[in-house]
Amino acid sequence: METLRSRWRSPSNIALVKYWGKYPGQIPANPSLSFTLRHSHTTTQLGLAAKSDSTPPQVRVFLAGEERPDFAPKIEQFLERLGAEAAFLQGYDLRIDTENSFPHSSGIASSASGMSALALALLDLREQVSGQPVEDFSRTASHWARLGSGSASRSLYGPVAVWGHHADFPGSADQYATPLDPAGLHPVFQDFRDYILLVETGAKAVSSSAGHDLMNEHPYARKRFSQAHTHLGHLQEILQEGALTAFGTLVEREALTLHAMMMSSDPYFLLLKAGTVEIIHRLWNWRRERDLPVYFTLDAGANVHLLFPARYEHDVKQWVDSEITAFLQGGKYLCDQVGPGPQKLET
Ligand code: PMV
Repeated sequence: METLRSRWRSPSNIALVKYWGKYPGQIPANPSLSFTLRHSHTTTQLGLAAKSDSTPPQVRVFLAGEERPDFAPKIEQFLERLGAEAAFLQGYDLRIDTENSFPHSSGIASSASGMSALALALLDLREQVSGQPVEDFSRTASHWARLGSGSASRSLYGPVAVWGHHADFPGSADQYATPLDPAGLHPVFQDFRDYILLVETGAKAVSSSAGHDLMNEHPYARKRFSQAHTHLGHLQEILQEGALTAFGTLVEREALTLHAMMMSSDPYFLLLKAGTVEIIHRLWNWRRERDLPVYFTLDAGANVHLLFPARYEHDVKQWVDSEITAFLQGGKYLCDQVGPGPQKLET
């Protein structure tokens, strides 16, 4: 019999200044900033069932209704990292029901939305078990989410979140993300679009944790970390002023630098596919012809995120449908946009 429940929906996010490289305890080697997405999200319900002994919780995970024992070790590792914070689970068994809004194996990483939804529901349960309200709920949830997956810490806040200490962002910290001050976001960015072009679906060849580790011995790491600081300072001004051309230049440079780091690590690896490169060149040509503010970013995979102001949605859709879908898995892409952050749902 489940005695306590909590259900949360939490979004994915797309980094503009990338987090790539970390220190022990999931401390980022450089600060990062992301747009929080609206439609790509994970919904997670946790159920606690009291048991008669105080052995560690038995964890059962269900993805879209199907039991997934293969997910349990990742959750158990996360609970271990939480340490004493998760002590309230002693004496209970934990059932996790989770589902993603984006198609399974779409190549969209579910770790940011998944870990943030899990952290929120878990923290909510801790409040219920202890009867004590948590002082800064979102901040603590962000801290917890970070321990599951670094980028998940940023999913706690919309429309824009910063994670990692940066001198120009008062209150920013390595332990949790903070929301960008709404006064610092020009209206053009408030409903910015992110079309996710699915060049490759399925599991990635190299996990992001392996990629982060390779930054430890990377010959260009120091320069890269300092570049990210510089970029973040510039991006703050760009987001405030609505400077679209400068936005595009900075965001595309960040994306290509992320992949350049992968290509120059030891061992090196390459996540870009022929379709990724083809789309980037086509975008650059189209942009030259039409002079529209449509830019790309990449995460740790082959998919291309098209970023652009809402008013160009019609043009972009037409262009993607006529020129780009041939390079996409099943011709598919996801139409997302900047969103407000997580939401608590009825159980
Ligand atoms: O949170 P992780 O460990 O999956 O790393 C995410 C890394 C990037 O997506 C490439 C960049 C970022 O800041 O989200």
